[in-house]
Amino acid sequence: MEYKNLLTKLENGIFTIKINRPDKLNALNHETVADINDAFDEAYSNESIRAVIITGSGEKAFVAGADINEFLGITAENGEALSKKGQDVFFKIENCPKPVVAAVNGFALGGGCELAMACHMRIASENAMFGQPEVNLGLLPGYGGTQRLPQLIGKAKALELMMTAEMIDSETALSLGLVNYVTSKVELIEKCEALLKTILTKAPVAITQVIESVNAHYENKDGYAQEIASFGKCAETEDIKEGASAFIEKRKANFKGK
Ligand code: COA
Repeated sequence: MEYKNLLTKLENGIFTIKINRPDKLNALNHETVADINDAFDEAYSNESIRAVIITGSGEKAFVAGADINEFLGITAENGEALSKKGQDVFFKIENCPKPVVAAVNGFALGGGCELAMACHMRIASENAMFGQPEVNLGLLPGYGGTQRLPQLIGKAKALELMMTAEMIDSETALSLGLVNYVTSKVELIEKCEALLKTILTKAPVAITQVIESVNAHYENKDGYAQEIASFGKCAETEDIKEGASAFIEKRKANFKGK
């Protein structure tokens, strides 16, 4: 599929989505959000795609936020619609049945930080900077940031970042639990691929059910009930037989994803 503002590639089961508006620091305009939505439809439906990496093009930015040009002349009605659209697309990322890693290669501000937080894991390069500077513009985070930032770093620090609009560097993001790892710029994609490579050796249905069960709590569902249902789903797969037999036979499991 062709995208206006994304570059994509599929290699070894890993679908890499690169947001490609480097002269605008990959700011998320309407078109780009629509592209991300379509790219995730592809990630859900294409069986050759087993995992996703999202990153930004250029040297400076992952994504420097929603496109501020689209805030001019905003009204209550279209403001709500903009926020709802962004939230829906980011839910699609969060609920993707295949693992999604953000490769944060520079500024991850506003909607960019929110995009990274919608991914299952985040790896940042040393030059990455994170922040929710919306209050500088007279706004608050609108793509799920008020919910996901406290989930990841706790309420007090999340409120501080959202109320001061201060940026934090990647080491601080690591110490707060906002990112899983920090790497050099050149090793960033390699590290994401290595992490996914490990995950891709595991039973795919089990991975999907981990995602579903962990997410349930944050969507006001009964996470324990979801865990029970997920356990049942895994129990009926061929992969549970393969995994258990492989352990007993002291060999590597060869999972089929069913
Ligand atoms: N929306 C639209 N355009 C943006 C943008 C955004 N969120 N962030 C950066 N850009 C554009 C700039 O307007 C500039 O375009 P121009 O060359 O046509 O003037 C280009 O990207 C480069 O940005 P610039 O500000 O010149 O780079 P910098 O290195 O001096 O500063 C930032 C980098 C990230 C600190 C700065 O761009 C910034 O503060 N961006 C806005 C961040 C923000 O508030 N995001 C939240 C939005 S909800």
